[in-house]
Amino acid sequence: MSENFVQLTDLTLSYGKTVAVPELNLSIAEGELVALLGPSGCGKTTTMRAIAGLLPPTSGRILIDGRDVTRMAANKRGIGLVFQSYALFPHLNAFENVAFGLRLQKMSNDEVQTRTMAGIEKVGLSGFEKRKPAEMSGGQQQRLSLARSLVMEPKVLLLDEPLSNLDARLRLEMRTELQRVQRETGVTMVFVTHDQAEALAMADRIVLMNAGKIEQVGTPEDLYARPETAFAADFIGFENIFHVKDGALVSDAGSLPMTTASDAAILAWRPGGVQVGQGPHQGAVLASSFAGEHREYVIDSALGQIKADAPVGAAAVAIGDTIAFDLPLHTARALDA
Ligand SMILES: Nc1ncnc2c1ncn2[C@@H]1O[C@H](COP(=O)(O)OP(=O)(O)OP(=O)(O)O)[C@@H](O)[C@H]1O
Ligand SMILES: [Mg+2]
Repeated sequence: MSENFVQLTDLTLSYGKTVAVPELNLSIAEGELVALLGPSGCGKTTTMRAIAGLLPPTSGRILIDGRDVTRMAANKRGIGLVFQSYALFPHLNAFENVAFGLRLQKMSNDEVQTRTMAGIEKVGLSGFEKRKPAEMSGGQQQRLSLARSLVMEPKVLLLDEPLSNLDARLRLEMRTELQRVQRETGVTMVFVTHDQAEALAMADRIVLMNAGKIEQVGTPEDLYARPETAFAADFIGFENIFHVKDGALVSDAGSLPMTTASDAAILAWRPGGVQVGQGPHQGAVLASSFAGEHREYVIDSALGQIKADAPVGAAAVAIGDTIAFDLPLHTARALDA
């Protein structure tokens, strides 16, 4: 298995004079499921379009399976595409939607039949062959769109926000489906999402992007526990981020003396890492909401708003009341400036 199955080298992508993605470098291994994660406008779709051959790079190189495809036409690259809008043919039934690409390859009818039925089965749609897309649910249409790409046996499958049109429950089901199909086919998958939970749940590796650049690459476990920058920490749920200066935590709103010294430049806490109910600091409760396994508080402190999760067994504190809290070093993530 190749470690550099998809290789992007110094890839610069522009729209006219505007550079959307400057000098991107990324290697994707064969059979890997990689998530491109990042806020709106950070260059996720642009990067996918370049890999697919829909956007010629300004400079740099794209290699797929050892071949330089930088100037190769999209349909020669062995890429499958699945988009947020399923782009199915409305007048064709499920079978014909999946068979469409195979028929273009002048394959025998028997082989089209066999491969189409196998593709439909792979995504769990057996029995739906005669349905038109409009007679199928969102999740079923999404799976049909996946089958249509898979039967072409792409080297790489690119999925751009494939689950964002689905309701919350279907989205969870489709996460598992996509992972299963990926495991069973072994196809290299790159999928785009701006949903950190989706990336953490599905990916072997996450590429976090920020303003056209790669901010951090790592396994979900890595990124979740060890974000390396304030941007990464914030994006992955460390909602309380403060600078450290002269033994105090500092924000735009003010400062709070630290009980234990730290030589970190920046410290970040998840809401779950903030201690509430006891501690050396006090603040007024601005908001309190029940979240099943815990209660979420917004506390007005000398540092501005702090988000803190309290165990649900603890006595609830009313909005407007004062609550004690601590930002303990042992639950903090230290970051460089
Ligand atoms: N056709 C275009 N012409 C000019 N600028 C574009 C074009 N498409 C995208 N851009 C710009 O390029 C940058 C990256 O856009 P891109 O679509 O890659 O973002 P994204 O990460 O996919 O965002 P989203 O999560 O909103 O889909 C943005 O600043 C965007 O405004
Ligand atoms: Mg996009």
